[in-house]
Amino acid sequence: MMMRNGISGLALAATLTLLAGSVVTAETKAADDPNLVAAYDEDGRYYTEDDVPTFNIQEDGTVDWLTYSGFRRYHAECHVCHGPEGEGSTYAPALKNSAIDMDYYDFVDVVTNGRKRISSSENSVMPSFGDNPNVMCYLDDIYVYLKAHGSEAIARGRPAKKEDKSDAIREAENACLGT
Ligand code: HEC
Repeated sequence: MMMRNGISGLALAATLTLLAGSVVTAETKAADDPNLVAAYDEDGRYYTEDDVPTFNIQEDGTVDWLTYSGFRRYHAECHVCHGPEGEGSTYAPALKNSAIDMDYYDFVDVVTNGRKRISSSENSVMPSFGDNPNVMCYLDDIYVYLKAHGSEAIARGRPAKKEDKSDAIREAENACLGT
């Protein structure tokens, strides 16, 4: 459920300001970038003021569920080409930077539909994952993890402490996977 339902624009702005103050953000270069800072949360998912998924790292290093889940999903589906921790490889770009520099909707579009750059000097193919539930059901998780890592909000490696998976996240996952 959106927590912004039924409030006016002005009240909304004030609410978001309050919320932004209450969400704990790691002290990184991410600390005041509106594309990264969590402005509000919804059943365990965090969003920027523009309703784009983002991470939330507590002071003791506890990561939000999507960041944790995304670490695992990334290393199951993407790292073979894009390198461990989104660091990039000789033939695929460093996604830890892409997740920060690219528009969220462009990121989703490339993963869903793929992208090719083929010429006499290049043969670069990003496969489309639109039919792969192990990617599509966890696309926000992967994106959020890469954003957290790319902005240096989390250290390398599997995050040690995580928030519990919320019922809403579990239900959405089951619905997406059709289980
Ligand atoms: C088989 C190798 C391969 C796999 C697996 C793969 N990618 Fe890619 N990806 C590429 C290549 C190559 C490119 C560059 C395509 C181009 O030149 O347009 C790319 C590009 C991208 C881009 C655009 C990056 C930018 O900065 O423009 C995104 C986003 C992306 N991949 C996400 C993913 C995600 C998420 C996964 C895992 C679900 C994944 N990729 C798995 C090969 C791969």
